[in-house]
Amino acid sequence: MRILVVGGGGREHALCWAIGASPLCAKLWCAPGNAGIAEVAECVPVKADDVDGLVAFAHDRSVDLVVVGPEAPLTLGLVDRLSAAGIKAFGPSAAAARIEGSKAFMKAILAAAGVPTAAYARFTEADAAKAYVRTQGAPIVVKADGLAAGKGVVVAATVAEAEAAIEEMLVDRRFGEAGAELVIEAFLAGEEASLFALADGETALLLSTARDHKRAFDGDRGPNTGGMGAVSPHPAMTPELEAQVMDGIVRPVVRAMAAAGAPFAGVLYAGLMLVPGPDGPVPYVLEFNARFGDPECQVLMPRLMSDLVPALVASADGQLRNVSLRWYPETAVTVVMAADGYPDAPRTGTEIRGVEAAAKTPGALVFHAATRRDGDRLLATGGRVLTVTATGRDVAEARARAYAAVDAIDWPGGFCRRDIAGA
Ligand code: AMP
Ligand code: GLY
Repeated sequence: MRILVVGGGGREHALCWAIGASPLCAKLWCAPGNAGIAEVAECVPVKADDVDGLVAFAHDRSVDLVVVGPEAPLTLGLVDRLSAAGIKAFGPSAAAARIEGSKAFMKAILAAAGVPTAAYARFTEADAAKAYVRTQGAPIVVKADGLAAGKGVVVAATVAEAEAAIEEMLVDRRFGEAGAELVIEAFLAGEEASLFALADGETALLLSTARDHKRAFDGDRGPNTGGMGAVSPHPAMTPELEAQVMDGIVRPVVRAMAAAGAPFAGVLYAGLMLVPGPDGPVPYVLEFNARFGDPECQVLMPRLMSDLVPALVASADGQLRNVSLRWYPETAVTVVMAADGYPDAPRTGTEIRGVEAAAKTPGALVFHAATRRDGDRLLATGGRVLTVTATGRDVAEARARAYAAVDAIDWPGGFCRRDIAGA
């Protein structure tokens, strides 16, 4: 197969690494890719949100399968456009990607599916939103309806903080139109977990679970980010809990989306809060994403024993009922190395050394997230720059190997958390 991966981050490097290893893959391109991806795929200078450019490229090169990494092209309808052109594509339609693109749509689907979620209300008027917050009290969670690069959620400890968030989003339009509507929901206390499943519009197949670390600095301090590291499987997710999430959340949601006329095919990524209950933790949905997580993909791919490509094709073809996947029993840990100043104002263009040495650490894989080559030099081009991954027999071994690889990297212009996959 001639395969095109869309995107240029650490997630897409991990996808290209897995797809490129498949005996079914005869040719692999990545648009736009990065310096690390260039080692396993041919990078093409088409941006991930250039829908016309991507459709034209796939058509011209007779691409057999397009695998879409990020949410932006999904929301823009890339998969719809490719399907209309007769090109097989992995990922949801624009209508189905609304499960990620609109919190209000997600809440409506959850209600239709009968899936437990935090109590909530929707607002477009600041005064009404503030009045609601005053009656509910704090802590309370204020969310922009649309996509806000992971920054549109404020967990407010006080009513005043919630009112300030409402003012920023609805009145000052900090996130533009993404904040024209708010979802305000009850605060849930517990442990967060992510579960990833493949769907084909009808059937859902469990991939695995992960725990990520969203805050920029050690001890879960500092601003929210796209994710500073992850571990898979999630240490608290038992097979029983996984089955509970698949049967009680993922499958009902896949059915509800089909019934709503927006059948979901692709990766359904459930962001969960495990709320302690008398009979053990109860999973509540915080959010859905319509794609692999980044950096969660970097801890899923190294654990996958089966060939990824047939599973992606089956998702696109509605054939997932014929697929089962095998996983290595190992744990994987990934540590994000970010440019100084990330997430607010990352300083780009700094030189990174030692990546080759890091990749030679036992069990380690260095996935690039934002790099380019300048002659012999490797330069940082974005906020999250490398995702240094390692597998091991357990969390401790995987973490030790990942940090050994991190320590082989010489990059004065970057930083990472030292407590990923820690207690
Ligand atoms: P979301 O984008 O909806 O997943 O929210 C981002 C982060 O905000 C989550 O990962 C949680 O840490 C936190 N969060 C969101 N909703 C809630 C809630 N109802 N209760 C507590 N924390 C929440
Ligand atoms: N790491 C969180 C996400 O990909 O949404």
